[in-house]
Amino acid sequence: MLASLRSSAVTRAALRSFARPSPVSWVRPQPRWFSHSTIRNHGHIHKPNPGEELHITFITKEGDQFTYEVAEGDNILDIAQAHGLDMEGACGGSCACSTCHVIVDPEFYDEIPEPSDDENDMLDLAFGLTETSRLGCQVQMTKELDGIRVALPAMTRNLQAKDFN
Ligand code: FES
Repeated sequence: MLASLRSSAVTRAALRSFARPSPVSWVRPQPRWFSHSTIRNHGHIHKPNPGEELHITFITKEGDQFTYEVAEGDNILDIAQAHGLDMEGACGGSCACSTCHVIVDPEFYDEIPEPSDDENDMLDLAFGLTETSRLGCQVQMTKELDGIRVALPAMTRNLQAKDFN
C-alpha cells in the first residue's frame, strides 16, 4: 500500500514540497541594535519641534506639580506614561476604561473638543467624577491647550469581571 501511495502523482508532489527549503530560511537575519535614545523619545509621544513646544502641568495625588514640554497631537495619557506618572491606562487608550481619568483646569476645559458618547459612557464609571473630568487618552494637545493643567484623581476605578458579580 505504501508503494502505491508513493507512486501517486499527488504524493510525489507533496514529498517534493517537503524537500524544499522554507521561504523563511531564505531571509537573511537583520542586525538589531539596542536603543540608546532618551525615555522622552520612547512610547507614543513625539519630540516637539524647536519653537513649537506646548506645555502641560500634571498635579499628582500628593499635590506635586510637574510641567513638561510636549508636541502637538500627543495625548495626555501617553505624555503621563512617558514621564512615569501614575496613570494606569488599562485599556491602552481605546476608551474602554476610566483609569486615565484627569480633572482639567476649568480655564482650559472649554478649549478641548466635546467628549464622544463612548468617552462620556466611560467617564460615568470614573471615580470622583467632576464637571471638568476627561479621559486623558482622548485629549490631544493643541496650541489652544498650551499651558493646560490637569490633576490626577485620588483614585481610579479599574473594573474587573468580578466587579459584575
Ligand atoms: Fe482606558 Fe483611557 S486608557 S479609557
